[in-house]
Amino acid sequence: MAKLWAGRTSGEVNAAADDFNSSIRFDSRMYRQDITGSMAHAAMLGARGIIAPAEAETLIAGLEGILKDLDSGALAFDPEAEDIHMFVEQVLTERLGDVGKKLHTARSRNDQVALDLRMYLRGEIDSIRGSLKALTAALTRQAEANLDVVMPGYTHLQRAQPILFGHHMMAYAMMLLRDLDRLADCRKRMNLSPIGACALAGTSYDTDREMEASALGFDGIARNSIDAVSDRDFCLELMSCLSVVMMHLSRLSEELVLWSSWEFRFIVLSDDFTTGSSIMPQKKNPDMAELVRGKTGRVYGDLMALLTAMKGLPLAYNKDMQEDKEAVFDACDTVKACLGVCVPMLEGMTVLGENTRRAAQTGFINATDLADYLVGKGLPFRTAYKISGELVAACIAKGCVLEELPLADYKAHCELIGEDVYAAIDLVSCVEKRQSAGGTCRSSVEAQIAYVKEVLNL
Ligand code: ARG
Repeated sequence: MAKLWAGRTSGEVNAAADDFNSSIRFDSRMYRQDITGSMAHAAMLGARGIIAPAEAETLIAGLEGILKDLDSGALAFDPEAEDIHMFVEQVLTERLGDVGKKLHTARSRNDQVALDLRMYLRGEIDSIRGSLKALTAALTRQAEANLDVVMPGYTHLQRAQPILFGHHMMAYAMMLLRDLDRLADCRKRMNLSPIGACALAGTSYDTDREMEASALGFDGIARNSIDAVSDRDFCLELMSCLSVVMMHLSRLSEELVLWSSWEFRFIVLSDDFTTGSSIMPQKKNPDMAELVRGKTGRVYGDLMALLTAMKGLPLAYNKDMQEDKEAVFDACDTVKACLGVCVPMLEGMTVLGENTRRAAQTGFINATDLADYLVGKGLPFRTAYKISGELVAACIAKGCVLEELPLADYKAHCELIGEDVYAAIDLVSCVEKRQSAGGTCRSSVEAQIAYVKEVLNL
């Protein structure tokens, strides 16, 4: 394809250089935004009398035709084209003749690419937020379905205190609510239009930036033309948000991997979200969860790649910035793919309540409650803590758990202990006693479920 910018140079580019420079391979996915943006631009040019209104109409109709043909597959992307912007303009001019050459009046690819990318990414945010909502709903449903299931809560991956399975699920729901918030916030800053900034300095044509911005669904315009074309914060912010999303999904995946192991056996993943081994007949591997965990690194890498590419760039546009797209597209694609498997995987997960309860019965996770019981008998917490610890050691020496330790042994350590100790360290009562706001008792978990349902309109 002959270069539209031939003039100052012959436009003949070395084949390797041409290929190296071209971005159509990955920016063609923004064709809809590019064409819609151009339609708004043509309309503005016509409305301001920069081109004749009839010419604007011709351009808009031509662009509509290109959009339709790309949608239907009647028109294919030219892999030789420099980028999506040049491709569309070239096809338009082939189809319309000289009037096509008027489209790029009062515009540069610098503001055009920034516009396309903001439009494309705000759509990606909407789609990712939709999937995050679906995952939060799936977690909430699992919390509701397993409201009475007691499990050990962990710190340092050591059994710590008894909790409700639902409480654990709702911890993830809260993380995802923050992700939803962060993405909405990121979208707000992204949704300012750069178009009209032109190459970097604005334009001498009597343009109407607000008109184009509002036609394209923006909340306003970027206020400095240099910043408008050199800013990629919106990509970086989005990838930061997505990195946190992936960190959350990775932690959840790690737990699914652990819990579905024969060592834990807290959950069973549905067969269609696991794989077998080519050699070991007994295997049921949690590959999807492992892959989500593994793909987290890609998204962090995408963020680091663009942060590094942007660092030290002088204002305004530099070609280095073409590197933004592969990074941010990969981050979005990866997150969407991960959420796509996480939602049904969570929905199809079966919780083995008997096993979680059994695990909660060992490991002395009621030792804190025993100490609290002694505080109730008048001991200072630190003293109570020490006695409880000694009783745990006594149990370990005897090979029993606190519930099984005879009263005589209790009394040998502390005279204040009576028969009521057994009720005080009963697992369900340990859970129920944690009535503090946000604690693990049933009513608190129910309140969390109600909150999430209200916030997300579930
Ligand atoms: N393909 C380019 C990019 O993705 C479009 C902007 C080109 N601008 C320029 N001045 N060469 O960044």
